[in-house]
Amino acid sequence: MPTAELSRVPSGVMPNPTIPPPPGRGGDLDAWLDRFEAIYRDAAGDVGRIPWAHAQPCPWLITWLNAEAPNLVRAGARAAVVGCGLGQDACALLERGYEVTAFDACASAIDWAKALHPDAADAFFQADLLNLPGRLIGRFDLVVEVHTIQSVPPACWGRLADGMVSLLSHRGVLVAIARGREEGAAGAGSEGPPWPLTKRELTGLMTDRGLAPVRPLDAFTDESANPALRLRGAFKRV
Ligand SMILES: C[S@@+](CC[C@H](N)C(=O)[O-])C[C@H]1O[C@@H](n2cnc3c(N)ncnc32)[C@H](O)[C@@H]1O
Repeated sequence: MPTAELSRVPSGVMPNPTIPPPPGRGGDLDAWLDRFEAIYRDAAGDVGRIPWAHAQPCPWLITWLNAEAPNLVRAGARAAVVGCGLGQDACALLERGYEVTAFDACASAIDWAKALHPDAADAFFQADLLNLPGRLIGRFDLVVEVHTIQSVPPACWGRLADGMVSLLSHRGVLVAIARGREEGAAGAGSEGPPWPLTKRELTGLMTDRGLAPVRPLDAFTDESANPALRLRGAFKRV
């Protein structure tokens, strides 16, 4: 795919969110979920107050869905969107004919997604990747992860990846999109969110769990006012 198309940031996308950390509890996953819940709740329906949210699906998911998914995932396949936030990515999948399940740990995000997308309300529910309902395990042909791993400290990445991979059917595909960091660059331990990943870190999270990239990961710099490195990879069981 041409780099220009990959890096384009449509108007309305806020690519470099900064979120104040929960005081004194930076490495505690529950503290971060409390923080996200408070952000959704306190925004009181104003999307402009959600640092990572925008009124459209992730552009780099859309280009992947249009160009690559048709070769990897059958039409009408079951898709899970993890950490779905306000639900735009889930709706993009529904529009393409997937059977969509979308969840987020934050109840306020799910209430908001249902209100924003009333025709798709049945697709959304609250669930924590660390404590998934058994009925979801192994069920999905496609798992979509956009900016969820990077939203928590590196010490928590493996537990989120465990949950994501557990959703996949035997032949399922997981597509992950994240802020990137150059190999060797400082950052993994630095204050987030987001906590950008290196290609090796994102790949390792998946290969450690029995997946392999379907092709080399995309790494590209977006064209936002504060350009940021982005990673995108699709993974399948070996
Ligand atoms: C940076 S936001 C991205 C939201 C959405 N994917 C988007 O791109 O707009 C990260 C999301 O992951 C959710 N999240 C974080 N940890 C989670 C977990 N353990 N289980 C489910 N959702 C989680 C947060 O509540 C938040 O909505």
